[in-house]
Amino acid sequence: MRPKLAAHHGLVMLLLLATANSAYAEGERELYLLHCGGCHRPHGYGAEPEVPGLRDALGKMVQVEGGRDYLIRVPGAAQSPITDRELQRIVNWILLEFNADTLPPDFTPLSLQEVSMARTNVLADPLKFRQQLWRQVLATSQ
Ligand code: HEC
Repeated sequence: MRPKLAAHHGLVMLLLLATANSAYAEGERELYLLHCGGCHRPHGYGAEPEVPGLRDALGKMVQVEGGRDYLIRVPGAAQSPITDRELQRIVNWILLEFNADTLPPDFTPLSLQEVSMARTNVLADPLKFRQQLWRQVLATSQ
């Protein structure tokens, strides 16, 4: 039973690698599903309390100081095995696809430079930072 399972896993990995390395340019949804959706679920509802959802409230997050960077600095995003450009595309897509209702009217998508910079500054204590930042978001949006 076990060797069979291992072989199956190997095949899945090969397929994933082949997809990730192909010249075919993946769409944002595919990138999201491949690199984030496993934890945050395909439609971004997350799996509370371990994995937060990525829907509806992140438009408020981008309006507080440090909020834009935060979306990139969480380890799941910053340390994902993807390029800065792919991370930029995914996070802007998450904002527009799942959070359009809360985005400010003057929202400007994250730039590549912003993503590259923020990514070098991975959060050491994401849960603590998260708590503080969300408290700030709630205080400002009342
Ligand atoms: C292995 C599981 C996992 C993967 C894969 C993952 N994340 Fe996460 N994500 C988490 C967890 C857990 C948190 C809560 C903070 C923490 O512990 O890092 C989180 C938090 C976040 C947050 C902050 C949400 C909030 O409400 O504060 C964002 C934004 C985010 N992730 C984006 C992404 C993006 C974009 C990707 C894909 C490039 C991704 N994550 C991949 C597990 C994951």
